[in-house]
Amino acid sequence: MKKPNNIFLLLIGILALTFSNCREVEDPIDPTPDPTIIEPGPPVIIPTEALTAIEASSQRTGDPSEGEHYLLNGDFVDSGIPLDIFLSTFTNPEYDLDRTGLNEGIDHRFNAFYSEYAVKVVSPNCFQCHSSELNGELIIGLGSTDADFTFDQSTANNITDILVTSAYGTNTPEYKSYEAFSKALKVTAPNIVTETVGSNPADKIAALLAAHRDPVSLEWSDEPMLNVPTEVIPTDVPPWWNLKKKNSMFYTSVGRGDFARISMASSVLTLKDTIKAREIDNKFADVIAYINSLEPPPYPNPIDMNLAKEGEDLFITHCSGCHGTYGENESYPNLMVDLDLVQTDSLLIYANFGFSEFTDWYNNSWFGQEPNAARLERYRAYIAPPLDGVWATAPYLHNGSVPDIRSLLDSESRPAIWKKIGIPRIYNYENLGWSYETESVKFNRHSYDTNLPGYSNSGHTFGDQLNESERNAVIEYLKTI
Ligand code: HEC
Ligand code: HEC
Repeated sequence: MKKPNNIFLLLIGILALTFSNCREVEDPIDPTPDPTIIEPGPPVIIPTEALTAIEASSQRTGDPSEGEHYLLNGDFVDSGIPLDIFLSTFTNPEYDLDRTGLNEGIDHRFNAFYSEYAVKVVSPNCFQCHSSELNGELIIGLGSTDADFTFDQSTANNITDILVTSAYGTNTPEYKSYEAFSKALKVTAPNIVTETVGSNPADKIAALLAAHRDPVSLEWSDEPMLNVPTEVIPTDVPPWWNLKKKNSMFYTSVGRGDFARISMASSVLTLKDTIKAREIDNKFADVIAYINSLEPPPYPNPIDMNLAKEGEDLFITHCSGCHGTYGENESYPNLMVDLDLVQTDSLLIYANFGFSEFTDWYNNSWFGQEPNAARLERYRAYIAPPLDGVWATAPYLHNGSVPDIRSLLDSESRPAIWKKIGIPRIYNYENLGWSYETESVKFNRHSYDTNLPGYSNSGHTFGDQLNESERNAVIEYLKTI
């Protein structure tokens, strides 16, 4: 663990010392502080120059149920594997979400639809990454923690190529319905391999695909036109239910302007032209309305409400300045926090959406055009996210480097190399996160090694000032929000 070393923490330390000295003088009867007594204390001073408020941009309105239907059945990724071939290799859906018609019995992470050549095809949907099982239930909008990008999917792609061409030949509607999908996989698959199951390369997929598209016509080019950096800097997947509070999208708050326009980026996988882009863009106002209708799952076990109340007071003095307040007096300040203050892994800020050739491409592209323009703005900061339903969203930090909230709030105790345990994986409802074991060296693709570039668990030491009882109280409170 890299220890933070900045004036701000020193300041808090001095403040804390001064105040505890004051208390001792006022109350000479009990000079030794009782560790079980919880005192919220004065508000933690945060240097305001390290915080920048993000302004809201106007958003379209939409119909949530239309949006849900489109997400579960639509052809926003409008090229894919012929249905017959898909069913011969992928027969056991994990969940089918009671879909009917073509999608009956299809795994929830894929949509089946008729291609423009009237062929039944299947392509991946948003639930590849934006749904996850917790407590034996599929939770829509919870980021996936087990999507596996640790192997190069080129081999699977080559096998599917052979299956499609040998079943149908190349000059056929089936092949034409599949071609764009296959081409997109060829340029992405070798370049998005992550170190750990659950680490997500979606941002890099977007940059790689942009490199093969003319920004204005969106037409495909076999040759890349941008020099996308080779490193794969992964992220966790944020929960969808927080989007409605946010004035920007993504961990680095790079996504500005119309959220529907930004969110349709997955379509760039197979998009044919701006006519199709416009059609999808119109439907995505409904998709955002659906995403904004989602609520976090309630904590499933009993909560000690007295302890939680003490935790709330501590949260207000130590955390609300960045994360806002919850419950009856809800507020969310939408703050970006300077990297020098938060000190979490810095590499995401410069990779993927932070790489200027890509943001220039985006801002000058079809996506940046009015009406409903979107844009990308780069800052050296991370957003302090809303913490609604945070008990359920482990692992923590933008790169998912910290397995549970207990260790997030006590930086010394964060494991350097760790692996989730149990099949199915075991959620720890007391530490709020994944049950894990530590390793001395990275054992396999399930191990999370925080020594790797982009995977560091440094920074966000704001919980270190809490003592054990205070930390317990804050954790109890976080179960309620
Ligand atoms: C391959 C995985 C993957 C797929 C597929 C995917 N996403 Fe995401 N999504 C991510 C990741 C990872 C992030 C966070 C990236 C970041 O913040 O840097 C994200 C972020 C988002 C956000 C912003 C959330 C926030 O709080 O800032 C929205 C909204 C979103 N995705 C919508 C969608 C929609 C709609 C689809 C389907 C059309 C989709 N995503 C498909 C992985 C994926
Ligand atoms: C100075 C602003 C600031 C303060 C104070 C602060 N945080 Fe944070 N918090 C952040 C930022 C910024 C992030 C995102 C960092 C990243 O992902 O790299 C974050 C992330 C988190 C996360 C992880 C969320 C996720 O889904 O990964 C949790 C949980 C959290 N903070 C809880 C707390 C608690 C509890 C306190 C009080 C003890 C606190 N924070 C104090 C700025 C702050």
